[in-house]
Amino acid sequence: EKGGYEHFMIKEIHEQPKAIKDTMTSRIMMDVDEVKLDDIKLTKEDLESISKIYIVACGTAYHAGIVGKYVIERLAKIPVEVDVASEFRYRNPLINKNTLMIVVSQSGETADTLAALRLAKEHGARVIAITNVVGSSVAREADDVLYTWAGPEIAVASTKAYVTQLIAMYIIALYLGRLNGNLSIEEFRLIRDEMLKLPEKAEYLLNQKETIQKFAATHYVHKDMFYIGRGLDFAVALEGALKIKEISYIHAEAYAAGELKHGPIALIDKGVPVIALATQEELFEKMLSNIKEVVARGAHVISFAFEGNDDISKVSDAVVYLPKTLSILAPVLSVIPLQLLAYYTAVERGCDVDKPRNLAKSVTVE
Ligand code: F6R
Repeated sequence: EKGGYEHFMIKEIHEQPKAIKDTMTSRIMMDVDEVKLDDIKLTKEDLESISKIYIVACGTAYHAGIVGKYVIERLAKIPVEVDVASEFRYRNPLINKNTLMIVVSQSGETADTLAALRLAKEHGARVIAITNVVGSSVAREADDVLYTWAGPEIAVASTKAYVTQLIAMYIIALYLGRLNGNLSIEEFRLIRDEMLKLPEKAEYLLNQKETIQKFAATHYVHKDMFYIGRGLDFAVALEGALKIKEISYIHAEAYAAGELKHGPIALIDKGVPVIALATQEELFEKMLSNIKEVVARGAHVISFAFEGNDDISKVSDAVVYLPKTLSILAPVLSVIPLQLLAYYTAVERGCDVDKPRNLAKSVTVE
């Protein structure tokens, strides 16, 4: 059942190229100048009345939502607020018929996410669900459903569901951007063509494990780890830190790299592992400065950057180079080595990778 792999988690990490491909199939196609979304019935007129989008979810799905905010605001120019479902439902959010809500849930059964969906519907909002389970509660109660085609996810720690949630976010952003005219056909084509190459690039990345395995083998004994990044890299840093916490029980925190100086840099001491993401082209130089700042305090840095950014090797102990894609699509690739880092670290520590302590796959009570 594990297809020759030692754990479900590593099997599911390896299923990501296929999951990405399946989630794009029949929606994003070569030479087709539009997103085909038969599952979503939102019209141009409906969209004109939408003044705000809320993305609501828990855990890993919430992290996919943070990427969604960046991407939808950038491509469709609609203001987006992201919230964790357990906060959203109790804070009297401003919802009305001009609100579009996107809920994200792998299982489609998470209690808080479902409650947030119901709250939005009571106030007249339209709800789109991104879920992996056909016929789940979230799928049944939402107005429109965009299924991720990740296939069953068994390991408690979410991996392939996350990357397909990202793909769903790009699909929605492209769709909305074209529908309201804020996304040019040239930019649409550029992103479409690069998206179609992601499965192959993810596959390539899965074969570049040595640097990660080595870093895990030398740093698994640490008590704290820091994940830093800017823009979309910060969103991925949050997900990377969650993965390591969940399955290896190492305390990890993610920071927007520009925030280091406002407090957390006080925690950087000799030998502290820092995981630095530097995939965002326009922020690359700023990330280099942040990396130098932590190195000056003795941090051990593993960096993630696109091929060609060799400068980063001068300031890092180890570098994982990602095959080049658009900055906006980087999360789909950069999360993969972070999942592997969490996995190999947990294995080194002898943890129960697929069933981490205190956690359940689907949180159906609040
Ligand atoms: C983390 C993880 C959880 C889930 C969260 C939401 O690896 O699996 O954080 O992402 O419990 O679950 P769904 O997406 O089923 O609503």
